[in-house]
Amino acid sequence: MNDHLQQPANAETPEFIQVLSANAIHQKVVHLARRISADYQNERPLLIGVLKGAVIFFSDLIRQLTIPVSIDFIQLSSYGNSEASCGDVAFCSQVTSDLKDRPLLIVEDIIDTGLTMDKLVKHLWTFEPESIRVCTLIDKYERREIEFKADYVCHEVKTGFLVGYGLDYAEQYRQLPAIYELKF
Ligand code: PRP
Repeated sequence: MNDHLQQPANAETPEFIQVLSANAIHQKVVHLARRISADYQNERPLLIGVLKGAVIFFSDLIRQLTIPVSIDFIQLSSYGNSEASCGDVAFCSQVTSDLKDRPLLIVEDIIDTGLTMDKLVKHLWTFEPESIRVCTLIDKYERREIEFKADYVCHEVKTGFLVGYGLDYAEQYRQLPAIYELKF
């Protein structure tokens, strides 16, 4: 972590435990992109990136796809500046594409309680798309409050607060090329 981010040393600085290296992430993204390309071979899905956390995963994933796609973005927020979801998921911005009769693939960075994805999928179905599938970088299943199963999962973890590769803690660490668990 120190190679990529220099911080003032103070007592508040948490410990960073590497969960996935940049290379390991790349391998998993390539593998996932192959599966998605095969599954959508005769379709032209609209990929919807969930801001802000999914932005880096989304950018890497779409560049590995071998099928034609369109892209759009939506923004939801639930955590504020805390470690835990406050459970109150709000839309900050909406997609601009026409969704009716289109195959949608939501691209998310992490599914934790499942509240964000549950709200988003229900919301998108109101626009009458042809189908909705969900792709997540991280499936963190221990704190699930609503049962939710993603169609594509890059990496599963049971617990831990993760940062890097788009994932933040209080808007910090999104730019780290690897994924770390923060120990406070
Ligand atoms: C994070 C993350 C997911 C959501 C997952 O977003 O990016 O969208 O929380 O949590 P859940 O399964 O418990 O609902 P956040 O609201 O922190 O916004 P961000 O993407 O801008 O970091």
